[in-house]
Amino acid sequence: MAAEEEGLTGPGEARPAPEPGPEPAAEVRPEPTADPVHEHRPGPGSVPELLLGRPPMARPLPSFDHEAAPAEPGPLFVDWLATALHAGVLDPQAFTLSTVDADGMPDARVLVLRDVDAAGTGWNFSADADSPKGRQLAGHPAAALTVYWPQLGRQVRVRGTVERAADLVAAAEFATRSPAARVHALVGQQSEPLGSFAEYDEAVAVARRRLEAHPDAVPPGHAVYTLWAHEVEFWQGDAQRRHIRLRYTRTGPVSSPEWSRTLIWP
Ligand SMILES: Cc1cc2nc3c(=O)[nH]c(=O)nc-3n(C[C@H](O)[C@H](O)[C@H](O)COP(=O)(O)O)c2cc1C
Repeated sequence: MAAEEEGLTGPGEARPAPEPGPEPAAEVRPEPTADPVHEHRPGPGSVPELLLGRPPMARPLPSFDHEAAPAEPGPLFVDWLATALHAGVLDPQAFTLSTVDADGMPDARVLVLRDVDAAGTGWNFSADADSPKGRQLAGHPAAALTVYWPQLGRQVRVRGTVERAADLVAAAEFATRSPAARVHALVGQQSEPLGSFAEYDEAVAVARRRLEAHPDAVPPGHAVYTLWAHEVEFWQGDAQRRHIRLRYTRTGPVSSPEWSRTLIWP
C-alpha cells in the first residue's frame, strides 16, 4: 500500500493533488481517546513493565530538620499539612484508616480527616457506625491512620485507640455539612450490595424528602470518632533513600500528654 494511502506522508511533505473521480467512501477512524493510557491498553502481567524506570520520589524533596522538631506532634502535623496545601497536593486531608475485623483480618479505606487537637493526641474523623469500618471499630476500637503526600515525599503514620463521641457531638458535626452531604449520609446502607442505580436514586430521593420535612434529621449511625494517638511518625522521603524518620511516642495520659521523640532507621 502506498504511503499516502496509509496517511504516512512525512511532516512537511507535500501530498500529490488527488485525481478527480468518484467521492471516496468516508474513512472510519476510531474516536480519539482523551486518555493516552487506554490507547496502549496494557495486558495482564505488564505491571513491572509499566513501572520500569519510575522509581518513587525521584524528584527534589523538601528537607526535614528533625532536630528542630517541636516537643509534640500536633504543631509539626499542621506545619506539614500547610506545606502540602501550598505545594498543591490534592486532597491532603485524605488518609487511610486501617482497622481489623472480628477475625483479625486487616481492612483499610480512605477517609477525610476532620480535625487534630493542638498536641496531636486526638485525630477526628466521622463515619457511619453501621458500615463495615464502624462495626470493626466497635469490635476492636484501635486503628492506624496513614497519609502520603507525593509532591513532598512525606508520610505520616498514627496508631492508637479509637473512641466514639457522644451522639450530641455527632449531631452537631452533622449540622455543619452541606445539604447534599447530609442527603447522601441519610441514604445509609454503605457497603451493602446494590441491586441497581435506580434503587440508589430512589433512596436518595426519599432521603432528600426526609431532610426537607425534618431539616435536623441525623442518621442514627452517624458517628464522630477520635483516634487517641500513642505513636505518630513523620517520614521524610529522600531520593537517595536517606529517609528521615521521627517517631513521637506518648508517655502521658490523653488528658495531659507528654511525648518522647526518637529518630528511627530508614
Ligand atoms: C478521597 C476519599 C475520601 C473519602 N471520605 C470518606 C469519608 O469521609 N467517610 C466515609 O465514610 N467514606 C469516605 N470515603 C469512602 C471510603 O473510602 C469507603 O469506600 C467507605 O467509607 C466504605 O468503607 P467500609 O466498607 O470499610 O466501611 C472516601 C473515599 C475517598 C477516595
